[in-house]
Amino acid sequence: MAVSTGLLSVADLTPAEIQHLLESAVLLKRGRRQESHLAGRTVALVFEKPSLRTRVSFEVAMRELGGHAIYLSPAEVGLGKRESVSDVARTLSRFVHGIVARTFAHGSVELLAQHATVPVINALSDYEHPCQALGDLLTILEKKGRLKGLRLAYVGDGNNVARSLMLAAAAAGLDFAIASPPGYEMDGPALERARKAAGQSGAAIAAMAEPHRAVEKADVVYTDVWTSMGQEAESEVRRRAFAAYQVDSGLLSRAGKGALFMHPLPAHHGEEVAEGLLDHPQSVVFDQAENRLHIQKAILIRALGPGGHAHPAP
Ligand code: CP
Ligand code: NVA
Repeated sequence: MAVSTGLLSVADLTPAEIQHLLESAVLLKRGRRQESHLAGRTVALVFEKPSLRTRVSFEVAMRELGGHAIYLSPAEVGLGKRESVSDVARTLSRFVHGIVARTFAHGSVELLAQHATVPVINALSDYEHPCQALGDLLTILEKKGRLKGLRLAYVGDGNNVARSLMLAAAAAGLDFAIASPPGYEMDGPALERARKAAGQSGAAIAAMAEPHRAVEKADVVYTDVWTSMGQEAESEVRRRAFAAYQVDSGLLSRAGKGALFMHPLPAHHGEEVAEGLLDHPQSVVFDQAENRLHIQKAILIRALGPGGHAHPAP
């Protein structure tokens, strides 16, 4: 039985729902304190891959909302190996109120959601990273005061982070340009989905090969690792393919004045991001990391809270 208030993809959310999550996150951040929205609620964090930000921010979020999180490491669950994904979903549903899952295959997080009777939240799969993208919108909103009409340039791999970000930008009305080397472009179906959403919001979605062209007039320059978790065997080949796709202060200076530099972290200094760029005055990467906490509180309340609202409507 699928539960609708989970979050597998940014495409699961309407623009109004995204707006509501952002508003909730702003309120939760402003009045950060011990709350009781999720008192008595427990989530399982089922992680097939390592994590710093996602694990810690979900654990702190549950604690500050009055609930509890149980972390299950890659070694413990053996998703689809020690036990089938559907049996894990059905068993966990008898113990906890929600499942936060970081998987290799996107199909695994979908399968969990299909068989769980509690909401499932995608904490990164090989296809999407929706919590990251929504936290990133929150950061852009805070720094620029608006989303609609801004231009976001993504330089690098057409990966999970890029895909969720593109879908989020399209829904929120930000123009999105991605520059990737041949063979590592954004997939056609995701581009199509984003263009459809952009048709409603008025945003433009563009894919190209030249980083310089993508960053022209950009308000945000964003990059992510060349080799994602699970692709380590390809890292040498990827290092060569992406050599001309490093974001450095030169590329950043070709963007619009005061453009933000963003990266989801972890960063590979000297690869996708030049040494020292994280400390550039235009870099907001640690604000970005912090905002994972606030947006995930909003996502958790929507999924598990009474009525799904962080605060009563004003
Ligand atoms: N950005 C992000 O998801 O970081 P972790 O892999 O450390 O959770
Ligand atoms: N694209 C990266 C993001 C890490 C947060 C990965 O999947 O490893």
